[in-house]
Amino acid sequence: MGADLSARAADVRELMDDPDADPQTLERTYRRFGAVNAVVSRPGALYRADVRPRARRRRSAAGAPLRILDVGAGGGDLCRALAARLRRDRLDAGITALDIDPRAVAWARAHDGGAGVAYRCASAADLAERGERFDIVLSNHVLHHLDDEGLAEMLATTRALVAPHGLVAHHDIARSRFGYVAFAAGTWPFARTLLSGSFIREDGLTSIRRSYTVTELAMIAPPGWVVRGGFPSRLQLRWEQDDGAS
Ligand SMILES: C[S@@+](CC[C@H](N)C(=O)[O-])C[C@H]1O[C@@H](n2cnc3c(N)ncnc32)[C@H](O)[C@@H]1O
Repeated sequence: MGADLSARAADVRELMDDPDADPQTLERTYRRFGAVNAVVSRPGALYRADVRPRARRRRSAAGAPLRILDVGAGGGDLCRALAARLRRDRLDAGITALDIDPRAVAWARAHDGGAGVAYRCASAADLAERGERFDIVLSNHVLHHLDDEGLAEMLATTRALVAPHGLVAHHDIARSRFGYVAFAAGTWPFARTLLSGSFIREDGLTSIRRSYTVTELAMIAPPGWVVRGGFPSRLQLRWEQDDGAS
């Protein structure tokens, strides 16, 4: 619990980012993302705040279904959680789970479970170069994987991917002592059971060390981007047309 959190530990690597990571451990990690994200990433809150209102407006206007892109979707659980809520509310949307890592895409595609998500293996830049556009561009737990140059590229790319009047919302951890201690304590009882044989606990702690604080991100965010803090130890970096840039 004594990790130095005074600055981003951008040089510490997550085990799942190793191209030679053990495939079975990686699969168990993708499998457990859903449970972890249900608690820390709160897909229901994301759905109510950003997805449902836009999907309803689109239905009222009898427009084409909302296009949602999840950049760095990993195991795709967030996309499937959104798809289930849209179906429950009889709202229409096309959801694309994008990841640059073929291991993640293969696992996610095999575990769609009838959600109807489109899984694609490519980078966000690949889609932007093809001129693809989406109404909502999301990411979750991606920003902290990037260095400052990668972050700048990701923001420019996701800004290019969003259609007029669309939203970009990058969700991530906000580095804090509370978050580190809470994650360490909250996952400890499951270390030998639910989380055993996965990278969740070790990479989760590394993720927190690699993450930005709200203040750090606000200082380097380009004009037009807005940083919001959230609970528990969360942040969002958002771009909306009405918030600033054209
Ligand atoms: C920690 S995982 C997060 C997975 C998932 N979003 C979640 O919250 O569980 C980060 C993912 O981002 C992917 N990624 C990183 N940079 C990317 C890029 N430029 N385009 C697409 N995927 C990217 C990685 O391959 C990795 O699977």
